[in-house]
Amino acid sequence: MHTGPSSIVISRDVSRGAELLRAGGLVAFPTETVYGLGADAANPVAVSRIFTVKGRPADHPLIVHIRRMEELAFWAVDVPDAAWLLAQRFWPGPLTLILRRHPAVLDLVTGGLETVGLRVPSHPVALALLERFGGAIAAPSANRFGRVSPTEAAHVAEELGGLVDLILDGGRCDIGVESTIVDPTTGEPAILRPGGIPKEMLEDALSTPVYLRRGGPVRCPGQHPMHYAPRARVLVTSPGPELRAKVEDLLVGGARVAVMSPDPWEALPHGVLRIPLPSSLPEMARELYRSLRLADRLGADVVVATCPPRSGLGLAIADRLERAARVGSADAEIAHPGKENSA
Ligand code: TXA
Ligand code: MG
Repeated sequence: MHTGPSSIVISRDVSRGAELLRAGGLVAFPTETVYGLGADAANPVAVSRIFTVKGRPADHPLIVHIRRMEELAFWAVDVPDAAWLLAQRFWPGPLTLILRRHPAVLDLVTGGLETVGLRVPSHPVALALLERFGGAIAAPSANRFGRVSPTEAAHVAEELGGLVDLILDGGRCDIGVESTIVDPTTGEPAILRPGGIPKEMLEDALSTPVYLRRGGPVRCPGQHPMHYAPRARVLVTSPGPELRAKVEDLLVGGARVAVMSPDPWEALPHGVLRIPLPSSLPEMARELYRSLRLADRLGADVVVATCPPRSGLGLAIADRLERAARVGSADAEIAHPGKENSA
C-alpha cells in the first residue's frame, strides 16, 4: 500500500476494501470493463456519497454488482427466461441486466425507477472483494460525471483523488469499455448501452434479433449526450481524405490537433500529435479511454478520431466516440459548464 499526495490510498488489500465497505466507505475497484466506485448497496448513506463524489444527478441509477447469478432473487422479481439465459451464458462478465426491482432495493440505487441493473463482474479482484464483503456493491464507473471512465488505478486517483477511502489496484482493465446493458423484460430484448458483450453474441444466445433502444428520457448517464468526454474537443471522421482535410483546417486555425486512429499516418500533415490505436477491435477498446486521457495530457485542443465499423466491439467504441464528440458541438451549452468543473 502507498499513500500519495492528498491522502490517496492505492492498495491491493482486498480485505481492507471489504472492511471499508462494511463501515460505509467508498472503495474504487477494478472490473474487467472499467474501474467502479463501490459502496454497500444496502447502505443508503454510503450510496448517497457516491452521488456526491461523482457529481452525479440523483435520478441516475447505479448498477448493483453481485457475486453470482443465484443472488438475482434478492434483488429482482419476475426474472424472465431470457434473463436467466443471458446470465448463464455471460456471467461473470461484461453484461448488465435491467430487471424489475425487488421491493427491498433502495430507491437511491434505482434512481426511483421500478427496475434495477445487475451484473456479476469477472475481474478476480472484484469477485474477491464481493466474496470478502459478503453483500452486493453498488458502483458506477469511478470517474466524475460526464468524464472518461478509468481503466487503471492511477486514472481513478486522477478523477477522484482523496475523495474515496481506498482505490484497489487490479492493473489495467481487460475490456476497456463498460458492460453492455440489456433490458430483457419485454418480448423484444433491447440494448440500452452497447458494451463489452457484442450485440451479435446476445442474438446468438437468444436466437432472436436484439435492437438498440435509443432516445427516451435521459435517465442513464450512458445515454446522456455529455458523456465519456476528455477536456479536448472530439471530432469523429472517416479515414482518408476527410480526415486529412479536417486536420488541415484545424491546423490552419491554430489548434493543437491530435489524431487518434489505427489507420496509416503517411498522408497526415506535419505537426499533428499522433495517438495510434490498435486495429483489432478488442485491443482498440482496451486502449480507447487511455488514449483519450493521453490527448489531454499532450495538451491537445482537438482530438480527431476515426470510427471503427459498428460490428462486434466496434459498436461500443463508435458509441463512446460519438458521445464524446457531442460535447462541445450540438450540446455546447450543456457541455461547457460541465467541462469546466469536469462534473
Ligand atoms: O461496466 C460497467 O457497467 C461499469 C462497471 C463499474 O461495472 N459500470 C458503469 O456504471 O458503467 P455507470 O453508472 O457509469 O453506468 C451504468 C449505466 C448508467 O447509464 C445507468 O443509468 C444504467 O447503467 N442503469 C443502471 N440501472 C438502470 C436501470 N434500472 N434502468 C436503466 N438503466 C440503468
Ligand atoms: Mg459511467
